[in-house]
Amino acid sequence: MDGARPGNVIRRQPHSTRRSPLEAAVALALLIIAYWAFSATRSPSNVSRANSGGGCNFPAIFNFGDSNSDTGGKSAAFHRIPYPNGVTFFGKPSGRYSDGKVILDFVAEKLGLPYLTAYLDSIGANFRHGANFATGGSTIEPLNTRIFQGGYSPISLDIQLWQFEQFKARTLELHEEGSSYAKTRLPRPEDFGKALYTIDIVQNDLHSALESMTEEQMLELLPSLTTRLAGAVDKLYQQGARAFWIHNTGPIGCLPFSVITYPPEPNNVDGNGCVASHNEIAQALNRLLKDQVSKLRLRLPDAKLNFIDLYSVRYSLISEAKKHGFADPLGCCCGRYGDRHFDCWKKAVVNGTEISLTPCRDPLKVISWDGVHYSHAANEWAAERIINGSLSDIHVPLLESCPNPASP
Ligand SMILES: *[C@@H]1O[C@H](CO)[C@@H](O)[C@H](O)[C@H]1NC(C)=O
Ligand SMILES: *[C@@H]1O[C@H](CO)[C@@H](O)[C@H](O)[C@H]1NC(C)=O
Repeated sequence: MDGARPGNVIRRQPHSTRRSPLEAAVALALLIIAYWAFSATRSPSNVSRANSGGGCNFPAIFNFGDSNSDTGGKSAAFHRIPYPNGVTFFGKPSGRYSDGKVILDFVAEKLGLPYLTAYLDSIGANFRHGANFATGGSTIEPLNTRIFQGGYSPISLDIQLWQFEQFKARTLELHEEGSSYAKTRLPRPEDFGKALYTIDIVQNDLHSALESMTEEQMLELLPSLTTRLAGAVDKLYQQGARAFWIHNTGPIGCLPFSVITYPPEPNNVDGNGCVASHNEIAQALNRLLKDQVSKLRLRLPDAKLNFIDLYSVRYSLISEAKKHGFADPLGCCCGRYGDRHFDCWKKAVVNGTEISLTPCRDPLKVISWDGVHYSHAANEWAAERIINGSLSDIHVPLLESCPNPASP
């Protein structure tokens, strides 16, 4: 591929060399083959028929979020997320905090669209069918000292929105200029109004607050978070977004990380061994978020807002892990050594001795990949249950999650 980059419009000069008819025919045949190969590998619109008949035919996805939906943003911007991430799917580190796919990947598959390229990834990027603005560690709350010192991502939700605005503005400019780069690598101008806008962000706000606040103080913080999230939906709407797919937050008290870091007192543990008060905070936040989504529906009547109860899916898998063929829900595939939690690719130092943490043998059996992030298998399990709309507050499946779904 050539080195075409945004802002660097490459125009082909018509060349004047004369050719024999045979040469011309061969050249044409080669061109057709090359074009066919190019479309097959680079412009995955050949697979995008899968959602025709589903009602919406989303041409693109724009995602905002944290590590739960990061497909390479944090990795591209800061440091490559190393092996064993990616061991189950992709076969190499893919910028995801998991052994394989995140829920967003399954959503993209269902829509017949390619996996989303991270906006911040400049290597081999193709944004023809959308862009992913999520980065691991992102928060709703704009970066402040508490969040910075906690080691979270500086690319908070407000920055993700600025990035989207710039992405859209420059995409439209390049199309105006007739850029060939724009035709193959960027969404079409009309795709912005027809795309699905997915949002999964808040978990790090809760983690960050837990590190430095009492649970009472946290409850006071929650309304400002959900108001900000609703404000982000408003801003996207003003930019032309009409179809939204919004996840609530999962049972953070059941993450092995939480159970290790905040060992629950006997009066603060639920039937699954999770930190009950942390789950209550997540649920309080989810109730506020649901209210905000209801208010948004009144404010933006021509938008379709689908609010997905990811909490329930995650919690039911954790509660019935054995029944569904999974191992101990509070265990994880890597990152745990005794009663300590580590990043799963790092060497752990315990009592002054360096210890290599080997990942488990069968990642497909674990719910938690690394103590904080869900495994490929758990993400697939959850995706199967949310995509058909059974956990949507308006009982609308993914493929009909647009304002005017055509009848199938
Ligand atoms: C580290 O040392 C402490 C105190 O000697 C001991 O209780 C603990 O078991 C040791 N941890 C490991 C993982 O060896
Ligand atoms: C959605 O899919 C799940 C898992 O396959 C299934 O248990 C559930 O009954 C389905 N719900 C609807 C409304 O189709």
